[in-house]
Amino acid sequence: MADTFTAFVIEDADGKPKGGLKPLTLADLPDHDVLVEVAYSTLNYKDGLAVTGKGKIARKLPMVGGIDLAGTVAESRSPDWKPGDKVIVNGWGLSETQWGGYTRFQRVKPEWLTRLPDVFSLEEAMAIGTAGYTAALCVDALEDWGVIQPASQPGAKEVLVTGAAGGVGSVAVALLAKAGYPVTASTGRPETHEYLAGLGATSFIDRAALLEKGPPLQKERWAGAVDSVGGITLVNVLSQTVWGGAVAACGLAGGADLPGTVLPHILRSVTLIGVDSVAAPSDRRDRAWKRLARHLDKAHLKAMYEVQPMSKLPELGAKILAGQVRGRVVIDVAK
Ligand SMILES: NC(=O)c1ccc[n+]([C@@H]2O[C@H](COP(=O)([O-])OP(=O)(O)OC[C@H]3O[C@@H](n4cnc5c(N)ncnc54)[C@H](OP(=O)(O)O)[C@@H]3O)[C@@H](O)[C@H]2O)c1
Repeated sequence: MADTFTAFVIEDADGKPKGGLKPLTLADLPDHDVLVEVAYSTLNYKDGLAVTGKGKIARKLPMVGGIDLAGTVAESRSPDWKPGDKVIVNGWGLSETQWGGYTRFQRVKPEWLTRLPDVFSLEEAMAIGTAGYTAALCVDALEDWGVIQPASQPGAKEVLVTGAAGGVGSVAVALLAKAGYPVTASTGRPETHEYLAGLGATSFIDRAALLEKGPPLQKERWAGAVDSVGGITLVNVLSQTVWGGAVAACGLAGGADLPGTVLPHILRSVTLIGVDSVAAPSDRRDRAWKRLARHLDKAHLKAMYEVQPMSKLPELGAKILAGQVRGRVVIDVAK
């Protein structure tokens, strides 16, 4: 095992968070029960905020960034895990209150670990990452609500995915389409239509159409939706959802406010389902990863991601905040 290794550490620089590569030793890591040799992490929107210092993600400094990790157990004081086990961690406060995945080694609590599904490599697990696992939580939530119907059912209404070309959106499109639902993708990037059609989207709307404030009750179109944008977009989606429909909301790429009315909820029984991945209990995580293992086509996954070195994190962070990342970015922590 290496004596020293490289991590992306966010530190205090004159009262502001500033990230950079730094050597660490095993003695620097937190005293949790499982030591993981990390192979890959990911770049999520939240990581973009953390690595650029544009958002206050870390609640204490210094902090190792990265909300995800995938790797191999190197040492374990827990009976549940043994050296050689392939594992994933998504969320659980990584890069916020707990040191995260931008490092060759990390110590984590046993209860944070999810076993890597057999069908995925460590790289593929991080191609999915928090964004993909959150998309699966959203699809599970819509199915539990029971209003979305496969395209084969007469009169089945469309299921909308906003921020479709982003990480959550891409995986949501692929999972919904694979399960047979008629998927409409909302994106601001027409050049991604071919990519999204390849994942299974059957129609498109320009994201600008959802960015203008409309009346509180609009033409009923969506049986359900996965929304990673928030703000006026989410208000419009709720206003266009059919009687009894539901919207699984997980993101705020377009804003954290919700400047709408209760009318869709009290006149059309529309439900807004909040989805949080960070503290989701293990049974929901296992279910979401099983869906991903069952329904995420390997060819689709391959089309969705690129692998980048950890040394490029600052520029990649700026790109994801500018909405310039298509699909998912896997971070190779050895480079
Ligand atoms: N609740 C949770 O546990 C959880 C988990 C994961 C992610 N999230 C949140 O979900 C959101 C998406 O995450 P991600 O990793 O998918 O990020 P991402 O890859 O950057 O995707 C976000 C997408 O949203 C669209 N978008 C960006 N800015 C916009 C704007 N101003 N107005 C309208 N649309 C805009 C873009 O899609 P198009 O180019 O297709 O228009 C962009 O690709 C983030 O807010 C993230 O923090 C939450």
